[in-house]
Amino acid sequence: MAREKREALGVVVFVVVVRFMACGSSGVGVNWGTMATNKLPPETVVKMIEDNGFTKVKLFEADEWILAALMGSKLEVMVGIPNNMLREMSEDPKAAADWVDANVTSYLFAGGVNIKYVAVGNEPFLTAYNGTFVHTTCPALKNIQQALIDQGVGSQVKATIPFNADVYFSPDSNPVPSAGDFRPPVRDATIEIIQYLHANEAPFTVNIYPFLSVYSNAYFPMDFAFFDGTYYKPLRDGDRVYHNVFDANFDTLVAALNKAGFPDMKIVLGEVGWPTDGDRNANVKNAKRFNQGMLQHALSGDGTPAREGEIEMYLFSLLDEDAKSVDPGKFERHWGIFEYDGKPKYELDLSGLRRNKGLVAAEGVKYMAKRWCVLNPNAENLAGLADSINYACSLSDCTTLGYGCSCNNLSAKGNASYAFNMYYQVNEQNSESCDFSGLAVVTSEDPSVGSCQFPVMFSRASLLLSHRGFSHLVLRFVWVFVLFAILF
Ligand SMILES: *[C@@H]1O[C@H](CO)[C@@H](O)[C@H](O)[C@H]1NC(C)=O
Ligand SMILES: *[C@@H]1O[C@H](CO)[C@@H](O)[C@H](O)[C@H]1NC(C)=O
Ligand SMILES: *[C@@H]1O[C@H](CO)[C@@H](O)[C@H](O)[C@H]1NC(C)=O
Ligand SMILES: *[C@@H]1O[C@H](CO)[C@@H](O)[C@H](O)[C@H]1NC(C)=O
Repeated sequence: MAREKREALGVVVFVVVVRFMACGSSGVGVNWGTMATNKLPPETVVKMIEDNGFTKVKLFEADEWILAALMGSKLEVMVGIPNNMLREMSEDPKAAADWVDANVTSYLFAGGVNIKYVAVGNEPFLTAYNGTFVHTTCPALKNIQQALIDQGVGSQVKATIPFNADVYFSPDSNPVPSAGDFRPPVRDATIEIIQYLHANEAPFTVNIYPFLSVYSNAYFPMDFAFFDGTYYKPLRDGDRVYHNVFDANFDTLVAALNKAGFPDMKIVLGEVGWPTDGDRNANVKNAKRFNQGMLQHALSGDGTPAREGEIEMYLFSLLDEDAKSVDPGKFERHWGIFEYDGKPKYELDLSGLRRNKGLVAAEGVKYMAKRWCVLNPNAENLAGLADSINYACSLSDCTTLGYGCSCNNLSAKGNASYAFNMYYQVNEQNSESCDFSGLAVVTSEDPSVGSCQFPVMFSRASLLLSHRGFSHLVLRFVWVFVLFAILF
């Protein structure tokens, strides 16, 4: 009996191990951007990411507080090198080695951070950058990967480059995925990078945004942006039939890679998602429809018409970022599946099974008092109102006031109150920030109407009280000290 049990256990362990090996990088990742005026404590965010069952997280930098909060977590981490550091990294192998040492290698101890990738730059070949980073990206990539190899972690950590999807295209004369190729101005540079990535067994990382197809083309068929197969006019490409623009886009990349001689190149979806505000097509309904469809599609293993298998993906994004640039659109600040304060915006089943499963909110978020700043109903001289609104909005986030957005139906007075409140909350309800020469006044009555929410900021005091990350950092220094004491 006991033996049978042991054997059964052995089989279970074997199956678990094999499963784990077969899909070592299974599960869904998420992008964690931090361009927000008020940020939740990193350890609160790490816990929220874990509670929701994400297995991977992608960062845009190597922030030491965030990495400290990730210590001891099993989450697979991609750290990032911002574009403005590419020149230095490309010209100076020593700077690259220092960066890797400080931001990667020093965290790779037992109980440290499970870093798997270094993102070298972020969409460096974007057309909007006018070629600024085209000649520095590949040398920077090589210096970083070489530093990883020299520091003995080259097989564990891979350098990659998150590309924007406009590095490849299919010609107007034959607009089908199988005609895909890299865009001529960056073709050689991209292929040189692919050769290097391939030789190092690193993936090609790409960001694909069906939302941008809808945003940039008023005649784009909406249903073709989603995955529920309701679009009646699929795209035919030889024997292949495309029911959604994501597959068509992905397979354009597959074709470009085939043409360049890399049919087996691993592809990682670095960013994919749908915003919930800041544009008439950005709302909770569309975001849920897209993200749920995307998750189910990526995890199903069906793949795309040109490439079978599970798609490794990082959702964009975790939280809203109210300090992001509004270029190319106001929606840029509303990509989060969670609000700025870690509240889920909608239900999303991260297993891709479409169960009606909710997301888990951030724990222990403490808010400031229920106080809002609004237009003073007794204000008589409204002469300076427009200037005051512009000022308030320039230093806070008023992107939900735009056409088709959640606060687009406010009256002129409502607009003023909204702007004043956003400024007041960003300034942590500092009483001086609710004056505007007597035009504004504090109220304890929630001015929210319908879909238009007037937020209350969370309190940052909790940041100072319990800092799991901080104690980890202290522990690390203690360890180093003990080691020194033993050695010398
Ligand atoms: C580590 O990364 C941070 C954030 O990207 C950067 O500011 C810092 O300079 C890096 N450290 C070194 C030694 O390069
Ligand atoms: C790229 O060129 C355009 C037009 O010349 C210019 O407006 C823009 O600021 C440039 N962008 C960068 C990042 O250099
Ligand atoms: C704003 O008002 C228009 C017209 O009454 C309505 O169609 C639209 O749904 C409203 N939008 C929001 C976000 O409430
Ligand atoms: C409120 O502000 C938005 C954005 O600036 C503007 O489009 C809208 O017309 C304003 N509403 C009124 C009633 O002035």
